[in-house]
Amino acid sequence: MKLAGKVAIVTGTSPNIGGGIAQGLADEGAAVACVDLAPENAQQCADWIKGRGGDALGITCDVTDETQVAAMVARVRETYRGVDILVNNAGILGGLSVLDMPLERWTRQIAVNLTGTFLCTKHVGRLMVEQGRRGSIIVIVSTAGHQGQAGNIAYCTSKSGLLNFARAAAMDLAKHGIRVNSLTPTATDREESLERAAAWGRPRPDRGSGRMLDFEKMVPAGRLPSPRHYAKAAVFLASDDAEMITGFDLRVDGGAIAKYWPWIPNA
Ligand SMILES: NC(=O)c1ccc[n+]([C@@H]2O[C@H](COP(=O)([O-])OP(=O)(O)OC[C@H]3O[C@@H](n4cnc5c(N)ncnc54)[C@H](O)[C@@H]3O)[C@@H](O)[C@H]2O)c1
Repeated sequence: MKLAGKVAIVTGTSPNIGGGIAQGLADEGAAVACVDLAPENAQQCADWIKGRGGDALGITCDVTDETQVAAMVARVRETYRGVDILVNNAGILGGLSVLDMPLERWTRQIAVNLTGTFLCTKHVGRLMVEQGRRGSIIVIVSTAGHQGQAGNIAYCTSKSGLLNFARAAAMDLAKHGIRVNSLTPTATDREESLERAAAWGRPRPDRGSGRMLDFEKMVPAGRLPSPRHYAKAAVFLASDDAEMITGFDLRVDGGAIAKYWPWIPNA
């Protein structure tokens, strides 16, 4: 087990990407604090990990509120004595064009995606420095942070900001032996999320169709990644295998960003 004895915080533990990463870290031996604004996402993710024989704690927390973030980190410290791994995954997806975006919606999306990552990194980073833990901090970005997507102004802006947030935080924390990297997912196959939601006791919605087919046509790998693929990359970045990797962006996108733009690989 690559993360035996380590303590991780994962924010945004819905049954999709955060839940998948939390499960992946737990399967490698980490105790995981599952942190979410939605109490059921925090608690059900933690219960699921515990049901599989792992160690987990569900904490309800709004990552945009510094008082709540400080209390969340204090609770993890109290329970597990410290933190080795932080995965900044909580986010608000989707959006509108620059012409249509209401200020309040822009402000909230920037606050959750960017400021939430800043606050969690600040408070976990301070604890790691205080305890002399050579931790690993991971920032979940998106291929929409690498490219301009129409109709998604605040999401693209915040995710692009996070790419350089990770590099700058890596520079701030390098002298403390703390590594900061980003991980870039892309449009994600929904099946695993539906299965995890069902395993958490939620009703299984219809799979839906349409939108993903276009993505599959465009992605060089010919199929979309699932949360378990991101989890494997997060385990690597969190582990000692990545001890000399900091300020790096690890893309788990089936080749989407490397692709020459007019090429349709699966036409
Ligand atoms: N789904 C995709 O196709 C995709 C692609 C690329 C990147 N991503 C990124 O992966 C991450 C997870 O995406 P997902 O698809 O699992 O989304 P999701 O909506 O299923 O999960 C996001 C979680 O964040 C939580 N959250 C929102 N605001 C919060 C706050 N203020 N404080 C604490 N928690 C809060 C939500 O309650 C939810 O559980 C996001 O950062 C997203 O941008 C997703």
